[in-house]
Amino acid sequence: MNIIIDKLNTQDIPAVTGLLEKSFRIGKVNAQKSIAMIKEMLKDKQDIFLAAKLGSEIVGFIHIHLHRDPFRPEMKHATFWYFAVSPNYRNKGIGMKLFEAAVTMCKGMGINEIRATTSVSHTIAQRVAENCGFKRGVSYKLKLTEN
Ligand SMILES: CC(C)(COP(=O)(O)OP(=O)(O)OC[C@H]1O[C@@H](n2cnc3c(N)ncnc32)[C@H](O)[C@@H]1OP(=O)(O)O)[C@@H](O)C(=O)NCCC(=O)NCCS
Repeated sequence: MNIIIDKLNTQDIPAVTGLLEKSFRIGKVNAQKSIAMIKEMLKDKQDIFLAAKLGSEIVGFIHIHLHRDPFRPEMKHATFWYFAVSPNYRNKGIGMKLFEAAVTMCKGMGINEIRATTSVSHTIAQRVAENCGFKRGVSYKLKLTEN
């Protein structure tokens, strides 16, 4: 399978929101809303989306958020946030390719530390992260609204 990993183009955003809808059950309305949101985020240098392409089809993506440490300004951080592969193409190594490409890109940008957010139920995502050298830490979450 000839998978190409590249930065997401504006015209490919609907394919990504389709994947979001399938993978995270965010619903059609939110998927539609996220098209405009991702378009804005692509203009912003703080967010990068890498897409996995098979021919012209988007079969996976990873969202990388870049941020700084206010108390150690020399430190550049990244967080891998949303990450999904199309259900038809899972367990074929595409998730690993996306994660590895995102790590390589961060290294190239001089990022000092990467975090990956995932919930305890996302065991496959955890496996991908651990295969890429990420170490499990502890983080706490407080939901302030129902959504
Ligand atoms: C998480 C996800 C992106 C992984 O993508 P993928 O392309 O299926 O992953 P890979 O094929 O690269 O597999 C990576 C590892 O997981 C293992 N794996 C993949 N699918 C598996 C399955 N169904 N059961 C058990 N192990 C599995 C692979 O064997 C591989 O581990 P190994 O190299 O040690 O053998 C994909 O499963 C997905 O989209 N899940 C739904 C969305 C999600 O949970 N996203 C993460 C939270 S943000």
